[in-house]
Amino acid sequence: MKISFISSSADMTLALGKAIGETIGPATVIALDGQLGAGKTLLARGIAMGLNVTTPVSSPTFTIVNEYEGGRLKIYHFDTYRLSDSEDFLAAGLDEYFGYEGVCVIEWSNIIDDILPEGTLRINIEGRSDERTFEADGPEDKIKILKNAAVKADCKFI
Ligand SMILES: Nc1ncnc2c1ncn2[C@@H]1O[C@H](COP(=O)(O)OP(=O)(O)OP(=O)(O)O)[C@@H](O)[C@H]1O
Ligand SMILES: [Mg+2]
Repeated sequence: MKISFISSSADMTLALGKAIGETIGPATVIALDGQLGAGKTLLARGIAMGLNVTTPVSSPTFTIVNEYEGGRLKIYHFDTYRLSDSEDFLAAGLDEYFGYEGVCVIEWSNIIDDILPEGTLRINIEGRSDERTFEADGPEDKIKILKNAAVKADCKFI
């Protein structure tokens, strides 16, 4: 199932993330793609806030994954930018996280696209200036959660 909508500001994308975090279920994998500065980290930060994680999410610069506890569910924030392919990811044993109870949010997920689990919610972000187009694909239950979050954040459907 697919869905597309527009966020017209950084605050709107943060609100979207929060609404996702408030409603997302356990063991969910959210795959984020889009150019540098698209808003992937901002969305991940919002998701963590919605899960009631108090530590602000920042880009995992020296590691591939940062773990955040203390919220309704744990959140595992991946940035696979520096990996060459999924073999690197598997060699580091990182696919183990996909079986965890928490929520995995993966920036630059296209690098490991071939090993993303079934049921992954894929979100691609594109745009310039302050406007970002979100295009998502995934199972019906997760697209429904994303749709409700986009409504709550006042995003414009296209
Ligand atoms: N509608 C919008 N949604 C998201 N970010 C926006 C929007 N409008 C402007 N911005 C700005 O775009 C930037 C997004 O940065 P962010 O670090 O989230 O991108 P990223 O996709 O994680 O980049 P990178 O690939 O470098 O990790 C922020 O500076 C934010 O303020
Ligand atoms: Mg980022």
